[in-house]
Amino acid sequence: MPRGDTMLENRPKPTPVSAANTGGAMVRMQDVAKDFSVRGKETRALQPINLTVNRREFVSLVGPSGCGKSTALNLVAGLLTPTSGQVFYDGQLVQGLNERVGYITQKDTLLPWRTAADNIAVPLELRCRNESRKVIRERVAEMIELVGLRGFDKHYPGELSGGMRKRVALARTLIYEPETLLMDEPFGALDAQLKLLMHDQLQRLTQQRKMTVMFVTHDLAEAIALSDRVVVFSARPGRIRAEREIPLDRPRDVFKVRFADTFSRLHEELWNELKDEVVKGTDV
Ligand SMILES: Nc1ncnc2c1ncn2[C@@H]1O[C@H](COP(=O)(O)OP(=O)(O)O)[C@@H](O)[C@H]1O
Ligand SMILES: [Mg+2]
Repeated sequence: MPRGDTMLENRPKPTPVSAANTGGAMVRMQDVAKDFSVRGKETRALQPINLTVNRREFVSLVGPSGCGKSTALNLVAGLLTPTSGQVFYDGQLVQGLNERVGYITQKDTLLPWRTAADNIAVPLELRCRNESRKVIRERVAEMIELVGLRGFDKHYPGELSGGMRKRVALARTLIYEPETLLMDEPFGALDAQLKLLMHDQLQRLTQQRKMTVMFVTHDLAEAIALSDRVVVFSARPGRIRAEREIPLDRPRDVFKVRFADTFSRLHEELWNELKDEVVKGTDV
């Protein structure tokens, strides 16, 4: 993002908030449980969990399908309310939509009648109403480069592959540089090479912009390569089964890091935790 810095200077920065009352925690889930009622039947999606994500920390959540990973992100985004317990964001109780997070949901929610470029521009049009068309166009072009979609800016979502739509959604979230990113399996649909490129870009961006990230993935290697900490959820109803710090230096070469001894050791340890849960989780 060579040109990004200059263009971002004029935009309002998020209000600096003292970390004193939050102990450096950006997200704190305190004894949070979630039940869903489907046709009169209660299903427990999340057991009471306690999870803290510190400011500027990159935390991945891994676990079998249906264990409550998306539910956890929805709770932090304020799209769901906990059945019991509380979710705090930067020391404040999350009540209603949490506008300080950018959320890349599992399903892409692009507007089919807008081109890729016009989809990416939506947050700027909404949030920075005084921004000139020219600045918006430049920022969009920058994001299109960043996610490797040069030449596809005038395509409509229906004319793009699943992986490309995912990248448009990613660009649309990154364009306003939220202080916290919630990402729900954002790279699942991408091929292996493109995934690595996106990992590299994401690491650079989140480090440069000092972002806090909650990242949900099925891919344990991806979680280790990107994260400061990996949290393994049990099969439904989800609870936290294991947590590991990832003591790999930054900036990391997201490709080479996979050959480090620490990486293999962590992969084996975490896989041992995860595999039992994956077996339990395949009850469908
Ligand atoms: N809106 C909802 N209504 C009813 N059940 C839901 C809803 N969202 C999730 N669930 C259920 O909660 C459990 C956890 O879902 P989810 O958080 O999507 O899991 P994951 O993202 O780990 O695959 C699943 O059993 C799912 O069917
Ligand atoms: Mg999910």
